[in-house]
Amino acid sequence: MRRFSAFLISAGIAVAQDLANGQRIFQSQCAHCHGPRGEGGRGANLAKPRLRHAADDAALFKIIDQGIEGTEMPGAGMTIPETWQVVAFVKSLGRVPPSTLSGDPVRGEKIYAANGCAGCHTIRGRGGALGPDLTDVGARRSPRHLRASVTEPEAEAPDGFLQVRVTPRKGPRMTGVRVNEDTFSIQVRDLAGNLHSYWKNDLAELQKDRGKSPMPAYGGKLASGELDDLVAYLASLEGAR
Ligand code: HEC
Ligand code: HEC
Repeated sequence: MRRFSAFLISAGIAVAQDLANGQRIFQSQCAHCHGPRGEGGRGANLAKPRLRHAADDAALFKIIDQGIEGTEMPGAGMTIPETWQVVAFVKSLGRVPPSTLSGDPVRGEKIYAANGCAGCHTIRGRGGALGPDLTDVGARRSPRHLRASVTEPEAEAPDGFLQVRVTPRKGPRMTGVRVNEDTFSIQVRDLAGNLHSYWKNDLAELQKDRGKSPMPAYGGKLASGELDDLVAYLASLEGAR
């Protein structure tokens, strides 16, 4: 029966009951990251016919079961039939027409270049390293999340980014982003992108600014049409790193 329902799902003939169960599980375990209709948020947009990490049903099953290593996507570890039901539901999301954005990505690329974004972000190997690599950000984040990241960076900071302020006993104070930390030492990238390493013993103070970001908020700096164009450009970045 399990095998049979897996076969039906991969043949695109999920039974109504399977879909309903898959939807119920999705709402409780996935929707807070992927949105109730899979439109994306902190997690990727799933409402599209082709998924970057899931070329076929077996790959989709594996992602849902085990997560994607090195990303915020966790493994769900459900039973085999439950996992297939969620596979069926995720596939059904891709059948709705993708939402279209009003902005112009070509103009958006110019706005990106004119506002110093590349000083902190890398796209296809070019740019600074203080902020996250944006080469494939359009595949990982929804347009709504991208817009909020630009207008209010502190509200939408991704996991793993922590702004720190370091006051050495000798030498200048410094604000930057934590790259690595263990019991005895901390490595920090300053706002110019240079890496510094400190022994904690040598520090007078180490402050961690949770919920803070070195990224400026662009909400007031860009006209709303410019923001639409910039978001359209970011959403178009789906390339492999
Ligand atoms: C903590 C937030 C979070 C939760 C919970 C979560 N995901 Fe994800 N998911 C992500 C993120 C972030 C990505 C993008 C990973 C990347 O490529 O960097 C992702 C990627 C995916 C992908 C691949 C998308 C693609 O384009 O290839 C699928 C499919 C997926 N998630 C399905 C699910 C399902 C189904 C659930 C619930 C069982 C779930 N996710 C729960 C955050 C989450
Ligand atoms: C001074 C450095 C700096 C500048 C300049 C900067 N950013 Fe950022 N950006 C960051 C850092 C650090 C983060 C991660 C923490 C956060 O989200 O606030 C970030 C996060 C982001 C994210 C979220 C990425 C994700 O995976 O969720 C997007 C999108 C983004 N920036 C776009 C831009 C754009 C577009 C510009 C130019 C208009 C820009 N940034 C300018 C440092 C910067």
